[in-house]
Amino acid sequence: MIQLYWKNATAAVVGARHGMSPGDMEKVDAQIRSAHQAVVEQVRAGKLGYAKLPVRDDYKQQVRALVDRYRKDATDLVVLGIGGSALGNLALQAALNPSNYNSLTDRVRKGPRLHVLDNVDPALVSETLKGLTRRLPTTVFNVISKSGETAETASQFMIVRELLRRKVPGNWAERIVATTDREKGTLHDIARADGYAMLPVPGDVGGRFSVLSPVGLFSAAMCGIDIDELLAGAAAMKEKVENAGDWRRNPACVLAAIKYVMFTAKKKPMHVMMPYSNRLYLLSDWYRQLWAESLGKAVDRKGNEIFTGPTPIKALGATDQHSQIQLYREGPNDKFTVFLEVETHPGETRVPDVFSDVPGLAYLRRKKLSKLLTAEKQATEYAMAHSKRPTATIRFPEIRPATVGQFLYLYEFTTSLMGELLDINPYDQPAVELGKQATFGLMKREGYEKIGRKIRRFSKVDEQFLA
Ligand code: PA5
Repeated sequence: MIQLYWKNATAAVVGARHGMSPGDMEKVDAQIRSAHQAVVEQVRAGKLGYAKLPVRDDYKQQVRALVDRYRKDATDLVVLGIGGSALGNLALQAALNPSNYNSLTDRVRKGPRLHVLDNVDPALVSETLKGLTRRLPTTVFNVISKSGETAETASQFMIVRELLRRKVPGNWAERIVATTDREKGTLHDIARADGYAMLPVPGDVGGRFSVLSPVGLFSAAMCGIDIDELLAGAAAMKEKVENAGDWRRNPACVLAAIKYVMFTAKKKPMHVMMPYSNRLYLLSDWYRQLWAESLGKAVDRKGNEIFTGPTPIKALGATDQHSQIQLYREGPNDKFTVFLEVETHPGETRVPDVFSDVPGLAYLRRKKLSKLLTAEKQATEYAMAHSKRPTATIRFPEIRPATVGQFLYLYEFTTSLMGELLDINPYDQPAVELGKQATFGLMKREGYEKIGRKIRRFSKVDEQFLA
C-alpha cells in the first residue's frame, strides 16, 4: 500500500510557525472528524458518484467488451478530450507504460500506440493526424466528452469524422468510440445516429473525478494496463480511508488536516506536488486539475464570498532541484510540498565502473540511478527542513496499477474532505463553464451572441498599450 509520511511537516522539524504542532492537531481534530463523517455519509447515501467507481463491475465489463473488439487489430488509439476527459488518461499511460511505449515494435507493445489530443493547437492536431495517414484504417478514435459540446473536443471530433469519411469509406463509423452521457447531449445524439460504439460517462461523476470510469479505463485497457488491479487498488484505499477508526492513521484525514492547517493557520497557499519519478509526473498534472477546479471557489456553501483555494503546483525531482528549489527554500515561505517517492522503480540503470582516478566522479561508480534519485530526494527534504519549509512524502513501494489506483482514490477522497473543511462545493466548476460559454460567443454559436459581442469589445486591441 502507498503510505503518507509527514514528520517533516511537523513543528518539531520546521518550527511551530510553519509546522504542525500537537496543538494544531488537537485544534483541527473536531473539524476533521466531522468532515470525515460528512463525506462518509455522502458516500454511503450514494451521493458521491466517484466513490462507487472502484467497486462497479458494469463499467469494467463494458470497457472489456469494447477492448476485446478493438484491441487485436488497432495500431493506434487517439483520445480526443480535454481537462477531466484527458488528464487521467495521460497520467495512467505515463505511470504504467514505459516512456518509449509508442516507439516499441508492435510485437513488444501491449496495445495500440496512444495519442492524446488534449488541445486544439493546430500544429499538434495536424501533425498527429498526418502521422497516422497510412494507419487510419487501423486507428481507433475515442472521443470523450461528458457534456458532448466542449468546443475543443467537438472541433477535433468534426475534423476526425470528416477525415475518416473521406479516407476510410464504408466502415468509418466503426473507427470511433464515443464516451459521453448515456442518455443525452449532442455527441450522444450524433453517436447514435452514426452508429458508433459507446461508453458512458456517469452522470453523477464530474470530469476530474472520472479517471476510474470508462473515461480513463478504455484507453488504459487498450494499452495493456491491468484495470482490474487498478480498480482493486482504488477499492483498497476506499476501504482504508472510509473505515480507518483513528483519523490520525487515516492517510486522507491526515493529508487533509495538514493541507488545511498549512493553507489557513500556516499561511501556505501554494501546494506543490513533486514526484521523484518521471513515470509519476503526469499524476501531478491530474492532481493540479483536481485540486484547482474542486477547491478554487468564490463562495462558500451559504453563498458568502470567500475566494478560497490552495494553488496546486507541479515540480519534478530531481530535475526541478535545478530550477525551483532556490525559490522554494529562500523565497517566501508560502509552500507546502508533497514529494512522491518510489521504493522500487520499474527500470534500473547502473553507472559503469569508470573514472576511478577522477576524484570528482569516482563516488558515482557502480551506483544505481535509483539510489542517486533517492539520495537527491532525501537531500532536498533535508535542505527544505533546514530552511523551515514543511514537506510530506507519499511513498510508493512500486509503480503498478494497484498503487496508482490507491493514489487516485486517496486524492479524490482528500479533495472531498478539503471541500468540507473549506465549506465549499468541490464538485462544480462555474468558472470553467463561463469560459466555455465565452468561447461559444466568440466563435459565433447561436444563442451566445450577447456574450460574444461583449468579449469582442473587451478584446479589441487598444493601440496606446502596445509597446
Ligand atoms: O473537470 C471538469 O469538469 C472539466 O475539466 C471537464 O472535464 C472538461 O471541461 C471537459 O468537459 P467535457 O467532458 O464535458 O467535454
